[in-house]
Amino acid sequence: MIVTVLSFLAAAQPALGEASGYLSLFRRGEPETCTNTQLSCHNTTVQSNLCCFNAPGGSLLQTQFWDTDPVTGPANSWTIHGLWPDHCDGGYSENCDSSRDYTGISQILTSFGKQALVTYMNTYWKNQDGTDEELWEHEWSTHGTCISTLDTSCYTNYVSKQEIPDFFQKVVDLFQELPTYEWLSAAGITPSSSKTYTTAAIQSALSSNHGGHDVYLGCSNGALNQVYYYFNVKGSVQNGTFQASDPDGGDTSSCPSTGVKYLPKSGASTTISTGTATGTSSSTRTSSTSNGSAPTATSFSGQGYLNVQSGGDQNGCIISAGKWYTTGTCATFTAVASGHGFTLKSSRGSCGISNNALTCGSGVTATVFTSSGGMLAVSGSTSFYADSAPTGSAQATVYTTSDDTALTISWEST
Ligand SMILES: *[C@@H]1O[C@H](CO)[C@@H](O)[C@H](O)[C@H]1NC(C)=O
Ligand SMILES: *[C@@H]1O[C@H](CO)[C@@H](O)[C@H](O)[C@H]1NC(C)=O
Ligand SMILES: *[C@@H]1O[C@H](CO)[C@@H](O)[C@H](O)[C@H]1NC(C)=O
Repeated sequence: MIVTVLSFLAAAQPALGEASGYLSLFRRGEPETCTNTQLSCHNTTVQSNLCCFNAPGGSLLQTQFWDTDPVTGPANSWTIHGLWPDHCDGGYSENCDSSRDYTGISQILTSFGKQALVTYMNTYWKNQDGTDEELWEHEWSTHGTCISTLDTSCYTNYVSKQEIPDFFQKVVDLFQELPTYEWLSAAGITPSSSKTYTTAAIQSALSSNHGGHDVYLGCSNGALNQVYYYFNVKGSVQNGTFQASDPDGGDTSSCPSTGVKYLPKSGASTTISTGTATGTSSSTRTSSTSNGSAPTATSFSGQGYLNVQSGGDQNGCIISAGKWYTTGTCATFTAVASGHGFTLKSSRGSCGISNNALTCGSGVTATVFTSSGGMLAVSGSTSFYADSAPTGSAQATVYTTSDDTALTISWEST
């Protein structure tokens, strides 16, 4: 019902929201809905509501590591460094609010029900010289506190530290859409202790997947070890639209132009397998080991049904628009390997999470899903929700945000 109210307000937005740039009637603790359409770093007028417009940090960098000495993370994946709000001219701010230098990021995330996110971070957000927790605390206090839209004043009925799940979830969501290892590997650029590559070849392999925009390549002793993907944002970091952009400082590499090493992660304890064992791009992945924290490999590939389990039982399935239905025929979905996971498509079109709801249709931006323990996952979480279990011909919207009825979704190949 709240959704209906919000969409009504959104429709009425020109009358209500124009002056302030946002609406202010919201569910407790939720961010305000932004209605401005200016892209950060590209605004033509002064933006006064910095809860809906990122400034001065309007250039958002999703930064990644390739750590080989010592090795961190899976042998076939880059790892997360962070999300940095650069100014639009290459300058930047750091440590913007020492009152929010939080400790115990994993406990904070867990207290907001983000256990699956922590599990994902334990595998993919690794510190090379210290604990992972130390890196997470540093990334938040040094960079996260400078993101204007994550300011506590941007939340109505602010719940202490609620910007923490928003920040960490967003970083992980972006990282999952930027599979550097796979993009390089698809261009024949694979880790090697003997081969070398040109910076131009590496740049081309990555920029062709970043809307033709250059990325920043970092080298240490002639070996590739960092990449920064730049974005501008329309709206808030937590909820806005990210648009690929060029490096803001002009400099696109610290690597030599030729003879760039891309060293293997020798002795990495895990090699992650996505759910593509039978999919088309499995050749870019080595097979999974079954060691501890590695996410479970699954088989969301080819064609199948998305079955729903709720209250301990299988109870209906997902239909073509992405809704949950408990009577009638299940829709057939096609799962295709993508990034660190896979995308899903029904006869209506691509499936994605839009306004926190599972939706399939034309014009829907495909979400890269993963799976864990055989269950469909979004950003590492296998928990989905609905207002209530549908009966008869009713269809229920499936949300990624908490609601009365919890459910999980599994794959049945057809
Ligand atoms: C983000 O989108 C959701 C769903 O439309 C809305 O409820 C929320 O208020 C939005 N937040 C911001 C900051 O725009
Ligand atoms: C864009 O908005 C920011 C933040 O209000 C402001 O500092 C900057 O001057 C604006 N740019 C233009 C061209 O108006
Ligand atoms: C799993 O990892 C541990 C250390 O993290 C290592 O000692 C053990 O040999 C590994 N097992 C396998 C099967 O790779």
